[in-house]
Amino acid sequence: MVQTDANAAFELTKDAPKPNPGPGQILIQVKAAGITPTELLWYPTHHQKDGSPRVAPIPGHEFSGIVEALGEGVDAFRVGEEVYGLNDWFEEGATAGYCLTLPAFIATKPRRLSHEEAAAVPIGALTAWQGLHDRAQLQSGERVLIHGGSGAVGVFAIQLARTIGAEVITTASKRNEAFLKELGATQVIDYKDEDFTKAIDGLVDVIFDGVGGETLDRSWSLLKPGGRLVTIAAASEETAEQRVKDAFFIVEPSHYQLSRIASQLDEGTLKAIVDVVVPFEEAPDAYAGKAKARAGRGKVVVAID
Ligand SMILES: NC(=O)c1ccc[n+]([C@@H]2O[C@H](COP(=O)([O-])OP(=O)(O)OC[C@H]3O[C@@H](n4cnc5c(N)ncnc54)[C@H](OP(=O)(O)O)[C@@H]3O)[C@@H](O)[C@H]2O)c1
Repeated sequence: MVQTDANAAFELTKDAPKPNPGPGQILIQVKAAGITPTELLWYPTHHQKDGSPRVAPIPGHEFSGIVEALGEGVDAFRVGEEVYGLNDWFEEGATAGYCLTLPAFIATKPRRLSHEEAAAVPIGALTAWQGLHDRAQLQSGERVLIHGGSGAVGVFAIQLARTIGAEVITTASKRNEAFLKELGATQVIDYKDEDFTKAIDGLVDVIFDGVGGETLDRSWSLLKPGGRLVTIAAASEETAEQRVKDAFFIVEPSHYQLSRIASQLDEGTLKAIVDVVVPFEEAPDAYAGKAKARAGRGKVVVAID
C-alpha cells in the first residue's frame, strides 16, 4: 500500500491475483501501463459503481499488452494478439501483471510501436480526438489554442489539430518551445513569462483547455463569435459555472477511434511521446510526480515485466 502526496492510498504489487475474465471480458497480460497522477484523485479510484468505498485500488487504466484469455462470447480478438487501450475506471487498473477489459475498449496495437510507446497513447490520444473532432468539430483552416501543449494529452492535441489542417497556438514552458514547434505548433507561449491573452494576435475558433482554473477563466474572451471551447482539466469538473460544465467532458473508450489512431501512428502522421519509462518498482514515485530522468513532456510509462 502506498500513500501519495495527495494522501490517496493505492495498491501496487506484482503478486496481485490473476483475474478471471467473465462473459464478454478479455484478460490482458500487461506489458506497459501509462501513468496519470491525477487519476488518484478521481472518484472511481476510491469508489465502487454503487458508491461504496473501494479499498487499495490498482491504478493505471491505459495499457499495451497481450490477450491472455477470452471470456464467454468474445470473438473480436484472439489469444496472443497484441492490443492496446483502456479498461473501466471502476475496475482494477493495469499497473499489474494482468487486467480485465472489454473488446470495445481496445484495438490492435500499432505495429510499429513498442509496448512502452503504445501505452503512452490511449488516454492522451482519445481525449484529444474526442475534444477536437467530436466536440469542437475543428475544421481545416481554423485557429486553435491548446493549453498545456507539452502534457500527455496536449502533445496529441497539437498533432491531431495539425492533421486536421488547423493553425495551432499552444501554451507551455519555454524549454518545450522547440519540441512543440516540431510537433506542429506555429506559436508557443511561455505561460510562466507571458500573458497569453496579449501574446495571441487576434481571436481563435477553438480552445482546447488542459489546464483549467484561472487559465480557463481568462480564455473565453479569445474566442471568435461562434467559437468553441472544450476543457478536460481536472479542475473544471467541480465547477458551478454552467459554461464550464458544458465545455467539460471525460474521455470515453472507443475501439473505432483507437483503430484510427493506430493507423496514423503506423503511417507516421502521429507520434507517441514517452516522457520516461520507469520500472515497476518506481511506479509509486512516478505517481507522486517524482519519476527520475523526466524530460517533462508527454507520458510517463511503467514497464511491467
Ligand atoms: N477529462 C478527461 O477525460 C481527462 C483525460 C486526461 C487528462 N485529464 C486532465 O487533463 C489535465 C492534463 O492532463 P495531462 O495528462 O496532459 O497532464 P500532464 O501530462 O501532467 O501535463 C500537464 C502540462 O500542463 C502544463 N501546464 C501547467 N500549468 C500550465 C499553465 N498555466 N499553462 C499552460 N500549461 C501549463 C505543463 O507544461 P510544462 O511542463 O511545459 O510547463 C504540463 O506539461 C489534467 O488535469 C488531467 O487530470 C482529463
